[in-house]
Amino acid sequence: MTKDAYSLADEAAAALRSAAGLDTFDVALVMGSGWVPAADAIGETVREIPFTDLPSFRAPAVAGHGGKIRVVRTSSGRHALIFLGRTHLYEGLGVDAVVHGVRTAAAAGVRTLVLTNAAGGLRPETQNVGDPVLISDHINLTGDNPITGTTFIDLTEVYSRRLRALVREIEPALAEGVYVAFRGPTYETPAEIRMLRTLGGDMVGMSTVLEGIAAREAGLEVLGISLVTNPGAGLSGEPLNHEEVLEVGRATAARMGVLLAKVVDRL
Ligand code: HPA
Repeated sequence: MTKDAYSLADEAAAALRSAAGLDTFDVALVMGSGWVPAADAIGETVREIPFTDLPSFRAPAVAGHGGKIRVVRTSSGRHALIFLGRTHLYEGLGVDAVVHGVRTAAAAGVRTLVLTNAAGGLRPETQNVGDPVLISDHINLTGDNPITGTTFIDLTEVYSRRLRALVREIEPALAEGVYVAFRGPTYETPAEIRMLRTLGGDMVGMSTVLEGIAAREAGLEVLGISLVTNPGAGLSGEPLNHEEVLEVGRATAARMGVLLAKVVDRL
């Protein structure tokens, strides 16, 4: 019999604890495209563990996704697991691979998860490139789900109201929005962007929602933050490209890093 995804996460968590030299961790952060440079501000690096040293992890396929877990001690003495990069559904490895990091973090004792991503902005009237936006809810258009069977998980509050309020104590003007995920890897068509605006979406990307669902299944409290790296296709007249996404991440890394460091210290 092949092992199920949850047992594989238990195995990876045991390997992670041993490689990190720690029994438990206070928080995990997943750094999406453009967010990797912000990781440096969160705390002092205790260890860096390549994904490929841990069972059932894959090296990320995408440029700008680092491919390791950094164990960090924050200024208040908390221990954070920072995932420098993630696996995306469009890589074709299946949904269990996409959420393996989240399940591993949960199995290693994490109770709070911060999911970051780069996103196209669907509301250029109010959003600027380089703005962080708190994810208030999501629309999952990936066509997939990390849960199979009769596990009916409540998704009324995937992204914790309490954590959003905590971030707003630090940055009161931060906007909130609904994140829509497609499978990718193509960017959207202008017609799809118009559809998503009508559906009530505020940001669009190719990640986060499946991890958010797996995290809620595991009982984690989730904070989601998008970095708006471009207006959605057709909204600006410019073609979209991944290099632009990474460039906005580099340009805003210091601000995002300070924000995340403050959030982690207040958890
Ligand atoms: N669409 C999908 N994913 C993205 C975008 C976008 O416009 N920008 C950054 N990631």
